[in-house]
Amino acid sequence: MSIYPNISDFLLDNEPSIGSPAIIYDYNSIVSTVSKIRNDIKIIPNVELCFAIKANRNKIVLKLLSDLGLGADVASIHEFEIVEEIGMNPVYSTSPAYNEKFLEKLLERNILPDFNSFSQLKKYVEEYNLNEVGVRVKVPLKNIHPDITYGEQSRFGINIDSDEFIQFINNKKLKIKQLHFHLGELQNSSIIKEAMEYIYSLSYKFQDLEVINIGGGLTYLYSDEIEVKKSWEIVKEYVLQINRQLNREVKIVVEPGMLILAMSGYLYSKVQSSDLSINKRIITVDCSAWNLTYWAYPYLVHSYSDSMNTTEEEHVIFGNTCYEKDVFISSVRHKPLKINDGLLMNPVGAYVNSMARNMHGYHLPDEWILKDSTFIKAGN
Ligand SMILES: Cc1ncc(COP(=O)(O)O)c(C=O)c1O
Repeated sequence: MSIYPNISDFLLDNEPSIGSPAIIYDYNSIVSTVSKIRNDIKIIPNVELCFAIKANRNKIVLKLLSDLGLGADVASIHEFEIVEEIGMNPVYSTSPAYNEKFLEKLLERNILPDFNSFSQLKKYVEEYNLNEVGVRVKVPLKNIHPDITYGEQSRFGINIDSDEFIQFINNKKLKIKQLHFHLGELQNSSIIKEAMEYIYSLSYKFQDLEVINIGGGLTYLYSDEIEVKKSWEIVKEYVLQINRQLNREVKIVVEPGMLILAMSGYLYSKVQSSDLSINKRIITVDCSAWNLTYWAYPYLVHSYSDSMNTTEEEHVIFGNTCYEKDVFISSVRHKPLKINDGLLMNPVGAYVNSMARNMHGYHLPDEWILKDSTFIKAGN
C-alpha cells in the first residue's frame, strides 16, 4: 500500500554507524507519508493537517513536521511548551485533564480548548468567564465495531445533544466554535459517515461553528486504499453540506499521530544473547519491548549478520528486562542470529519514546534522523 514507505537501500546495505539501541527516523519516508496524506485530503475544502504530539515529542522530528507545514494537537502543557518552542502552527487542543496553568497558556495564545467533559467545561467557563469554547463531542455511533471503544460508552467527549448541556450554553450565551471528535482507530468509511452525519446534524444547532476537528486514528483505515478514498469523499460531501447550511466555510482539521510517523521509525538494537532452546532460538536484545513497544507491534525488517549458516531457525526475540513477557517478536524464522548482530525493527516512529516505561532504569534509545545517507542526531 502506497502510504507504507519502503526501507531505504542505504539502511539495507549499511549497518548504522551509531550506538544501539537507537530509533532511526527515515527523513524521506516522513516527507513522502505527509505528502501522500496531503494529496488524499486536498479534496476537502479548507482542510488543515496537524500532528498529534502525543505520538512523538522529539523536537527535531517535530521541527521537520513543522517545516512541512503541519500544525499540532496538544493534550498537555508539556506538549504545548514543545510546540511553542518549535513554532508549530496552528495548535488545537483537547485533554481529559486541563489545569489552570495549561488553560491560561492556551487562552493567552487565543487557542480555544476543546473541552472533553461537561464538568470540565462548566468549571472553566465559570472560572474564566469564557463566552466561546470548543467541545470534544461524544459521537453516538450506532453501528459500533467491536474494536471501537470510542462511541457512546467512551469516557471521552461531551454528550452535546443533552438538554442539560443545551440549557447550560443557552444560559451562559456560550458560543460553540469548535467541534472535535476522535473515535479511536477508524475501521472503515461507514464509521466516518456516521460521525460526519452526526456533526452535520449538530451544525444546525451550533451556528457559531468555525472548526470541525476529525481527530486521528487513520492507520488501520490506510491499509485499504479504497476505504481511504471513500472516507475522504464522504468527509468532503458533508463539509460541503455544512458550509452550505452555514453559508460560509468551516475549517476541517485532520490530526493523526500514528499514521504520520509510525512506519518511518526503525528500532536499531543488538543481540545480547542467543541460545538454542528446545526447538527455537531465544534471543535477547539490548532494549525492552515492555519499556518501548507497548503500542507498537514490531516486525524484524532487517538484520546485519555475517553468519554463513543460512539454515533458518525459529527465533523468539526478547527485550532486556527480567519481565517474562518482555517480547518484541514471538516467532520469526531467520538464519541463526548471534551475539552482537544488529537488528532493525519497524514500526516504531510513534507511541514508542513518547509513552515509554523505564523498568530497570534503562534510558530511552537515542534518536536519529537518517537523511539520504547521513545520520543526524535527534536527541537522546
Ligand atoms: C484527540 C486525539 N486526536 C488525535 C489522536 C491521534 O491518534 P492516532 O495516533 O491514532 O492517529 C488521538 C489519540 O489518542 C487523540 O486522542
